[in-house]
Amino acid sequence: MKVAETIESVRNYIKAAHAKGEKIGFVPTMGALHIGHISLIEEAKKQADYVVVSIFVNPTQFGPGEDFEKYPRPLEKDLDICDKYGVDLVFAPTPQEMYSSRNLTWVTVEKLTETLCGRFRPGHFQGVTTVCAKLFNIVQPEVAFFGQKDAQQAIVIKRMVTDLNMPLQIVVCPTVREPDGLAVSSRNRYLSPQQRKDAALIYKSLQQCKEMIDTGATDVQQIIVEMRKVLQQIPSGQIEYVSIVNAESLEEIDHVSGKVLAAVAVRIGSSRLIDNILLDTVNG
Ligand code: PAJ
Repeated sequence: MKVAETIESVRNYIKAAHAKGEKIGFVPTMGALHIGHISLIEEAKKQADYVVVSIFVNPTQFGPGEDFEKYPRPLEKDLDICDKYGVDLVFAPTPQEMYSSRNLTWVTVEKLTETLCGRFRPGHFQGVTTVCAKLFNIVQPEVAFFGQKDAQQAIVIKRMVTDLNMPLQIVVCPTVREPDGLAVSSRNRYLSPQQRKDAALIYKSLQQCKEMIDTGATDVQQIIVEMRKVLQQIPSGQIEYVSIVNAESLEEIDHVSGKVLAAVAVRIGSSRLIDNILLDTVNG
């Protein structure tokens, strides 16, 4: 496995892989790799010949007071994981390498970033789309892999790729969960044992939503009230949002129909946890 810290060396490795006719599969990450990230690497191994993982805690997607400084950076452990799962190249740049001069160019996806997490993290998605556009230009993958865990991020990235005619395919992989349903996340490690137990209620609230819709409920406000009741059982929890939106436009809806996304964000202690489920009320 190769490890590159500079853009120039990534370009050289990619040039060599392309010269051999290899299909490049790319998994962008912020490191602190876990089984959710590994599932993306495994899918990339299936669909591509040469797998690139980036490990970069991107400063431009963190707001003031968020966990940028505190975000875990276990680089050696991450490299071992990448090696074990057959990654060909890890790109682990410094912030200076990615943002060498003062950045004046930003990629903004409108509308889709104004709901859900976008309402609570101003500038976050602009940081995500800008860094992904830069990474796509550096790595030049034919296909890139994202997790359904960050549903809004995946939709926003897909839209950026379409609107800017970027020559790559975006594949969205299912959310990997702990046995009790909690979505695996780098931020779960901030939870105390009790908070970790309580955090299972996040998935339970989404299951509550699914059960209500499966048994015919269509009134979004009524479903949200019941989901909130589940989340309110988390003693140290603070609900940021509980939303049911159109799964494509991410716009709020009053009545459930077609494909909908139920999404929640909850603060437990110092962790901000998000989760979602996609429900197709037409095709089941
Ligand atoms: P990060 O949080 O490290 O996540 C990297 C990728 O792993 C994302 O596509 C995310 O959706 C996916 N992922 C995380 N937890 C998952 C789980 N439990 N199941 C399945 N996939 C999961 O998302 C980012 O980094 C950054 O915003 C990034 C795209 C790298 C841009 O900086």
